[in-house]
Amino acid sequence: MLMDNIYGEHYYGLLSFMGTLEKQISMMEQTLEAFNRTNIIDHTMARLKNEESVLQKCSKKGVEPTPDNILSNVHDIIGIRIICTFLDDIYKVRDGIRDLEGITIVEEKDYIAHAKPNGYRSYHIIVRNAQGYPAEIQIRTISMDTWAALEHDIKYKKDITVNKELITAELKRCADELASTDVSMQTIRNMIYGQM
Ligand code: GTP
Ligand code: MG
Repeated sequence: MLMDNIYGEHYYGLLSFMGTLEKQISMMEQTLEAFNRTNIIDHTMARLKNEESVLQKCSKKGVEPTPDNILSNVHDIIGIRIICTFLDDIYKVRDGIRDLEGITIVEEKDYIAHAKPNGYRSYHIIVRNAQGYPAEIQIRTISMDTWAALEHDIKYKKDITVNKELITAELKRCADELASTDVSMQTIRNMIYGQM
């Protein structure tokens, strides 16, 4: 049953790559958690970009939304979000992703060391498999995820015209406070378990 789909003949291949990544990440999680004897990943989410968002991104980039153009221009067709419990766990997961079989790393963006001006924090890795299918993996703490979810929600309520500067500044302040809490929580964990 081949549905009329924006990804054309690549649809099932993309779904299959997404499933493979999820399985590999789940195995990595079990290995990391057994080795470190702590919880490393709180949860993982995976999604295929919906048609509307794909069309939006293509028009933003000025390309025709053909299946091949989409594959080469939209690197977050497959989106995987890995939510870690503590700050240091992000880098353990990052190292695990670098070691995964069957993928090459196209780009890494460390928006934790270099937070975006609005306060957004997350570690992004863009990968491709042997077929050339792309995926964007975002690794973040629970706090970073909370902030991104709320900020995203607010951004899409497009009628915010009053107090825009104040709202922007307050969002940034919240992001920085959450980041400082992440550092404190990490320090507390290190005091309890020692450096790992
Ligand atoms: P797009 O922003 O997706 O067009 O691509 P880009 O090349 O600018 O990549 P970037 O690394 O900036 O962002 C990729 C993804 O990260 C986005 O699709 C979001 O999921 C997330 N992201 C980046 N910046 C923000 C932000 O300011 N707020 C929130 N909530 N999410 C963000
Ligand atoms: Mg962006």
